[in-house]
Amino acid sequence: MSINYSEKIPNNVNLSEDRALQRALEQWQPNFLDWWGDVGPDGSQDFDVYLRTAVSVDPQGWAHFDHVKMPDYRWGIFLNPREEDRKIHFGEHMGEDVWQDVPGEHRANLRRIIVTQGDTEPASVEQQRHLGLTAPSMYDLRNLFQVNVEEGRHLWAMVYLLHRYFGRDGREEAEALLERRSGDQDNPRILGAFNERTPDWLSFFMFTYFTDRDGKFQLCALAESGFDPLARTTKFMLTEEAHHMFVGESGVSRVLQRTCDVMNQLKTDDPVKVRAAGAIDLATIQRYLNFHYSVTIDLFGADQSSNAAMFYSTGIKGRFEEGKRTDDHRLRGDTYRVLEVQDGRLVEKEVPMLNALNEVLRDDFIKDSIAGVNRWNKVLEKSGIPNRLTVPHKAFNRQIGTLANVRISPEGQPLSQAQWDAGRDTWLPTAEDRAFVQSLMGRVVEPGKFAGWIAPPAMGINRQPVNFEYIRFN
Ligand SMILES: [Fe+2]
Ligand SMILES: [Fe+2]
Repeated sequence: MSINYSEKIPNNVNLSEDRALQRALEQWQPNFLDWWGDVGPDGSQDFDVYLRTAVSVDPQGWAHFDHVKMPDYRWGIFLNPREEDRKIHFGEHMGEDVWQDVPGEHRANLRRIIVTQGDTEPASVEQQRHLGLTAPSMYDLRNLFQVNVEEGRHLWAMVYLLHRYFGRDGREEAEALLERRSGDQDNPRILGAFNERTPDWLSFFMFTYFTDRDGKFQLCALAESGFDPLARTTKFMLTEEAHHMFVGESGVSRVLQRTCDVMNQLKTDDPVKVRAAGAIDLATIQRYLNFHYSVTIDLFGADQSSNAAMFYSTGIKGRFEEGKRTDDHRLRGDTYRVLEVQDGRLVEKEVPMLNALNEVLRDDFIKDSIAGVNRWNKVLEKSGIPNRLTVPHKAFNRQIGTLANVRISPEGQPLSQAQWDAGRDTWLPTAEDRAFVQSLMGRVVEPGKFAGWIAPPAMGINRQPVNFEYIRFN
């Protein structure tokens, strides 16, 4: 399964054996590069960036590191190897052979799922495109660019499926993926969180921690799919996604470390003094966390959804770690608890599990998210700071599903509109918070130097030293 880099489009799918497909993708390629040039990372065209590139899909040693100019990055099509005799392992087709082609009756749904996933990939590149101008270090700038090129590759992954399996509709969808723009009034990206701005590096780290983790859970669910090419594609994407979440988790850890150091030096927990010393106070970090968490859990969709049930029953989309679960993988008589508002109170209600699979995936995501927040709290604990970060209640600040119509505090208390208005600025980032964080952003490009609001990482990338020349500016 090694990757052929001698072709115009690097791939491990024998692209040269399908001339029509190869031609179609080679026609899409310059449009992709135009898109990258237009709304990809701002001012990045001439640097040599220390990037990893996939050289095989073998779990050991797929990564090759070298200094590369960003527009010369070799975006390509990489699928995990095919498993012999793989069977559909959930839903009503359980036990049947997986599909190597798209069954006619599932075509519209599969296309919709692939387009929705594909749309998030270029969206995040667009959202992050100005961050390079204010990178807190060369190390961080390199990580940003790594995330950006890989999101570009994830777009390639979905576009390959559209071109290869969905004919003319697929080609049209592939074009449309380059036409929508994050935050655009007339032609926005499909999902809400991908139309929010990522204006500063604290937002970037929260985004890569929470929103790339949504990516992980969606990809894990698709990696179970009965449509084998989708499963194989998403499995390889997951190996890249891990680095994006690392960037977020370690980024927030380093911000916290710096804040703790300042609090200890000044012997203060006064946010005003912490800010005056050029670090980000814990209350602001908590507000950013609340925002990114609540916006991200909306991405899982409505708490009850007949589409979710259909995707599962038809074998299109499984659950997170479907194969490790010990139930019957059909779930027909099973129930799950979702939240509902009754007489102004949140109550739990049992509903058919099949209809609640968005909620099941959201709850898996929440568990995984909390584990990392606990690791952030270790930074506080080790520094002797008594404060702790928490994730807000699941019903806080929701825009999608049953909970969109109620006001709930981060602790889970139902609120009147007046109470919400009074508390909002203590729970979510204010314009003033954002302006303060923005005021700290400034480019640091000397090897081994870091902006004053963030601690250096414990180690460098690919065992290089922290002061390695991750970017060569020409
Ligand atoms: Fe991605
Ligand atoms: Fe990602």
